[in-house]
Amino acid sequence: MNIEQHIIASTIAAVKELYHQDLPENQVSLQDTRTEFEGQITIVVFPIVRFSKKSPEVTAADLGEYLVQHIPEIRTFNVIKGFLNLSIADAYWLNLFNTSLLDPSFAAIKPNGKKVMVEYSSPNTNKPLHLGHVRNNLLGYSVAELLKADGYEVIKVNLVNDRGIHICKSMLAWQKWGNGETPESALLKGDHLVGKYYVIFDKEYKKEIDTLKLEGQTEEEAKKNAPLIKEAQKMLLDWEAGVPEVIDLWKKMNGWVYAGFDVSYKNLGVDFDKYYYESNTYLLGKDTVDEGLEKGIFFKKPDGSVWIDLTEDGLDQKLVLRADGTSVYITQDLGTAQMKYDDFKMDESIYVVGNEQDYHFKVLFLILEKLGKSWAKGLHHLSYGMVDLPSGKMKSREGTVVDADDLVAEMIETARAKTEILGKVNDFEEKEKKELFYNIGLGALKYFLLKVEPKKRLLFDPSESIDFQGNTGPFIQYTHARIKSLLSKADYDFSAKGVSDASITGTELEMIMLLAKYPAEIASAAKAYSPATLANYLYEVAKLFNKFYHETPPIIKEENETVKLYRLNLSFVTADVLKRGMRILGITVPERM
Ligand code: ARG
Repeated sequence: MNIEQHIIASTIAAVKELYHQDLPENQVSLQDTRTEFEGQITIVVFPIVRFSKKSPEVTAADLGEYLVQHIPEIRTFNVIKGFLNLSIADAYWLNLFNTSLLDPSFAAIKPNGKKVMVEYSSPNTNKPLHLGHVRNNLLGYSVAELLKADGYEVIKVNLVNDRGIHICKSMLAWQKWGNGETPESALLKGDHLVGKYYVIFDKEYKKEIDTLKLEGQTEEEAKKNAPLIKEAQKMLLDWEAGVPEVIDLWKKMNGWVYAGFDVSYKNLGVDFDKYYYESNTYLLGKDTVDEGLEKGIFFKKPDGSVWIDLTEDGLDQKLVLRADGTSVYITQDLGTAQMKYDDFKMDESIYVVGNEQDYHFKVLFLILEKLGKSWAKGLHHLSYGMVDLPSGKMKSREGTVVDADDLVAEMIETARAKTEILGKVNDFEEKEKKELFYNIGLGALKYFLLKVEPKKRLLFDPSESIDFQGNTGPFIQYTHARIKSLLSKADYDFSAKGVSDASITGTELEMIMLLAKYPAEIASAAKAYSPATLANYLYEVAKLFNKFYHETPPIIKEENETVKLYRLNLSFVTADVLKRGMRILGITVPERM
């Protein structure tokens, strides 16, 4: 039994003995004692007053007396209004530190027997990744790692949208104006080359629209009648018919894109266990549509199109199959959801997709539930907000979105500039420097994006994110490196051996309590599918260590070996928690910087 459980049990016993009442366990509410008061654990007495029939102050005092008598680890108590603040003896915290935090299996992964799929990234293959994808990729990767740390078996999935009119536009433009250009000949990453032709298509298409408008057509007519769009549509039909020439071109250009994406994924440090391709899934879902019609959940309109009426659920009527029998976005997702489940039989399935698709996923999950899919309750849309940049910063070549590769390069460059100014790397070898700038640049980017709740829109300022002070990745990285340097100067070797008596300062006690919360932080962040609380927890840990470091006399020079070992142990566990926590955010913490 840990101290919290002990306090709860004794509180119930106290109420029985003192007031002859049965206090339900859920009425005992514990919290951390606020820093301005003495103590570490506080009982909120108000819910107990109903049972004691005494004032909060009297109830708290009665309880305090009882607990001090019955729990040896409780040293003293004080009462502030309805709050009973308990001071736990140093020996208890020291023991907790020795037996739990120094145990090599501290926060070890305990398999929970559940399987979860995390679908993330899921790009279209007509252009390179942009800033929105960066948030998606970092979030998806981190949530997957978080769930692993919480004991899940995790399958990371990427559903690539590799077919459709968008890729035909790039293909057509390349065919017309490419002159056989390849990534090698153009010295361009494949995804950028394909993106270039997507932009060319759009330009030429606009020209045609303008011409048609001058000839008297409306905007809408012109958009439909422009020869280029007709050609692109024809190409899509040819693709569907399997015309070899079109298929070959499609394979070639998608191949370029994948090679490019691979580089971007590697730079971002994300990976996947399984790829699904929409060229294989776009025809799926028609069985599900039949199933829905049979079960009377869908209905057919006179023109043959198939719908579901969700007005009773506060939504509207939703098309699930066009009159000509072709799929819409949701048809494919209905089929893909079934296929994913058939492939993996997972307990939960998470879709990391921007909040502009909130409605789509609401409808998708509702339909699957109505179809009686037992696994539908395990589906979750991890929705996230837009990322903005301060105006004027880092506009891409096309002037609209920020390119992911450019962003990564700029982060690394900023990390280099800031680090060199501080003279931190004068004695580093070239290779080590390169690695460090990468780790700092990416650490800054990842931390900045992940410390914000996914739902919130966020403003990303590259240079603010690379600051060695404040709530940033580099600050936490630097704290870790500082501890590592302390440990190596002290010739410290971790041995899981604690010291049995040392007096603990207030800050040290705070550190032990905070570090002990690490497993609970993982569990609650995983439950919320949000790395943000974990990120902010790690910042608190780093901040507290720095406070400790500044107020403690130089540890290396400490003459009392017991005190020295105890402080080095505390530093070691701090570094370990920072390293493991940051790893879940996808961030590497350097050994020195
Ligand atoms: N490829 C889509 C897009 O870029 C996202 C796909 C999301 N996943 C899904 N199962 N619908 O908008």
